[in-house]
Amino acid sequence: METMTHFYAGVFPVFLALACVFWGPNIGEFFPRFSSSTKEDSTPTTANNVLKGHMEKFGNQAEKIYDIITLDYFPDPEVFYRDYMRKSVPLVVKGALKHWPAVQKWKSEDFLREKFGDSVFMVNMKNITDAYHSYTMPMSMTDFLDDFKKRKVYMDSLISEKMAEDLTLPDFVACGEYMEMLKMIAIFFNSGWSRSDIHFDVSETIFAQVTGGRQWLLTTPTDGKYLYSDEFPYHSGTSPVNWEAIDLVKYPDVSKIAIYNATLDVGDVIYVPEGWWHQAKVTGGIPNIAIAVFIDFLHCLKNAPPSNDSVFIDNCIKLREDKPREMKCNMPLNGMTVKEVYDNYSHLKPQAMKFTIPEFRKDIFEYQPLKSGYSMPTLGLGLGGMSPEEANRSIRHAMRHGYRFFDTDSEDETEATLGYIMGDNPYCKREDVFVIAKVHPKNLGRNATKSSVERSMKRLNTDYIDLILIKAPSCDKEMIDCKAAENPGTWQESWQALEDMSKAGSIRSLGVSNFNILQMEELLTMTTVPVSALQARFDLMKRNTKLREFCNKNGIRFIAHSLLGFKWAKSSSKTNPILHSQMVGFAARFYRTGPASVLIRYALEKNITVVPKSSNRLHIVLNKNSLIMNLRESKDALDALDNFPHIP
Ligand SMILES: *[C@@H]1O[C@H](CO)[C@@H](O)[C@H](O)[C@H]1NC(C)=O
Ligand SMILES: *[C@@H]1O[C@H](CO)[C@@H](O)[C@H](O)[C@H]1NC(C)=O
Ligand SMILES: *[C@@H]1O[C@H](CO)[C@@H](O)[C@H](O)[C@H]1NC(C)=O
Ligand SMILES: *[C@@H]1O[C@H](CO)[C@@H](O)[C@H](O)[C@H]1NC(C)=O
Ligand SMILES: *[C@@H]1O[C@H](CO)[C@@H](O)[C@H](O)[C@H]1NC(C)=O
Ligand SMILES: *[C@@H]1O[C@H](CO)[C@@H](O)[C@H](O)[C@H]1NC(C)=O
Ligand SMILES: *[C@@H]1O[C@H](CO)[C@@H](O)[C@H](O)[C@H]1NC(C)=O
Repeated sequence: METMTHFYAGVFPVFLALACVFWGPNIGEFFPRFSSSTKEDSTPTTANNVLKGHMEKFGNQAEKIYDIITLDYFPDPEVFYRDYMRKSVPLVVKGALKHWPAVQKWKSEDFLREKFGDSVFMVNMKNITDAYHSYTMPMSMTDFLDDFKKRKVYMDSLISEKMAEDLTLPDFVACGEYMEMLKMIAIFFNSGWSRSDIHFDVSETIFAQVTGGRQWLLTTPTDGKYLYSDEFPYHSGTSPVNWEAIDLVKYPDVSKIAIYNATLDVGDVIYVPEGWWHQAKVTGGIPNIAIAVFIDFLHCLKNAPPSNDSVFIDNCIKLREDKPREMKCNMPLNGMTVKEVYDNYSHLKPQAMKFTIPEFRKDIFEYQPLKSGYSMPTLGLGLGGMSPEEANRSIRHAMRHGYRFFDTDSEDETEATLGYIMGDNPYCKREDVFVIAKVHPKNLGRNATKSSVERSMKRLNTDYIDLILIKAPSCDKEMIDCKAAENPGTWQESWQALEDMSKAGSIRSLGVSNFNILQMEELLTMTTVPVSALQARFDLMKRNTKLREFCNKNGIRFIAHSLLGFKWAKSSSKTNPILHSQMVGFAARFYRTGPASVLIRYALEKNITVVPKSSNRLHIVLNKNSLIMNLRESKDALDALDNFPHIP
């Protein structure tokens, strides 16, 4: 199409953004800048004439809008190389993928759920109440589908193996020579709300619309100099200009940009060469799903030393010019599914031909040795007080996310629910799980304790319990509801019963809850089986320091209860003074996670095992961030946590 020729005189540059980020203006915050920018003085000139498109959307400033070359068939792979990729010419192919099984099938959420439900994908989640704060986390397709219309979640992930069966390579790149340059094939999926920044990608991008549509605005690599991207503080390749309302007084050069407009519907494909700036906006269709094939043709990031965006783009332009003018397609892959291509040609580019992980990572969970000789994870899920439905949902969700440690309660149905799930769950069986069960103080005394443990084992559907805790030393009405206890025995008798059961092999480790130092000292004088753990209160405002020191000294694992501060919310004020404190919120923002993960990490740093209760699926996953965050990244945040007003 001749509309574009003057921009393509010679060969153009381009470069690309890592799997483009569609987060709106602030996404840059989460990516390190790879070049240092030298700020140029831009003196805003106030034009005497009317500023066309001032404070309007990106695109409305341009004098003329160009079309992108549009075909209704795929060019041959060799022609695509010679006339488009080698020359940095964008291309739209309309309707060419209508035959994709994915296009036929994936519009059905039921189909997605049934076929891909168990696979795990990487999902970005925006916190709606806090625009500067988003998380990345793994989610199963099932969970994503449950959430994606309710929250701002955006799947941006490698495809799964089963998905690859429904996809073929777009014909114009269906050739082994392109596969040698493959970077990755990814899925982009949301409910129709996403908008990208104005940015460029650091690879050739082939974007196929599987369901829904997308509106694309492109501009040439060299026009990027009118986008002020070197003023964007966070990372390269993104313009600081707010595409929703362009301030032409602040950014007058935006008027000089030539805009190319393309509308993609179901089955359409767009090719965006590396370095072409673009902004994409989904235009309806729920679900809105696209598949992107990223091709590393120029390796600009590697071959063009990073500096500022202008220099980077110039270097990429040169790299493209140096590429051979023609490419032979000696390994045609026409009509092969992506699955077949990965299966048969992975030797061409093994690191690129990868599928998303089939299940959640378990290896980030840590274990601590107990005096009994067994080991216990440092993070588990507290179940006490959940309804059977809540427990059923939360335990399964947590297991899928790698949790293997559950803290049950004998006074609700959580033992039975966990027992049932351990019996039939493909992700984790009894032997994979560490279970805490409790002896309620109404069951103090030898016989009652023995029956209580036997009942727990029966309900848990198991012949051993990992750790039994005597829940309290007495029926203290303040602390634990004990109405039913007419005549409980003593904790000393209970302990002896537990020792007997431990020696008989049905309990692996023994411990107690809510004992004070005097009781702990007495306990240590009478044991013949080691005390492995003490569960007691710990939160930022009540730290139980003496008791923890006692445990550390005696090799007893300290397990926190009431960690997140809800006890204070009940006693002192309506809001939780810890979880919802400004300080903890500040730290959460700094570490890009939820406030609870900060509190959990803090406890882990203090040599404490934690079992926070949550039936909120998002929180169960976010709590796991505590295992991979480093509180020492911010001395200020760590000091502030240490100095949070507290009772020692
Ligand atoms: C980018 O770097 C080059 C070389 O260091 C310099 O000449 C140019 O002015 C810089 N451009 C911007 C926008 O900072
Ligand atoms: C691009 O094309 C779409 C569809 O024709 C149109 O709605 C939109 O206004 C155009 N954008 C610009 C900036 O011209
Ligand atoms: C490619 O792999 C598939 C398995 O996915 C196999 O059935 C098929 O025969 C292979 N085709 C070629 C051309 O090697
Ligand atoms: C628990 O959840 C599973 C899977 O979602 C479901 O099949 C089962 O019926 C549920 N059981 C109960 C008791 O709610
Ligand atoms: C405890 O159980 C034993 C054996 O079953 C029984 O002989 C004993 O009387 C019971 N003790 C009490 C206090 O119930
Ligand atoms: C951490 O707790 C263990 C008991 O689980 C104890 O043996 C160890 O000494 C404690 N470490 C420190 C540094 O206090
Ligand atoms: C989202 O942000 C709000 C306001 O900062 C905060 O109160 C809330 O806890 C955040 N949500 C999550 C899940 O972190």
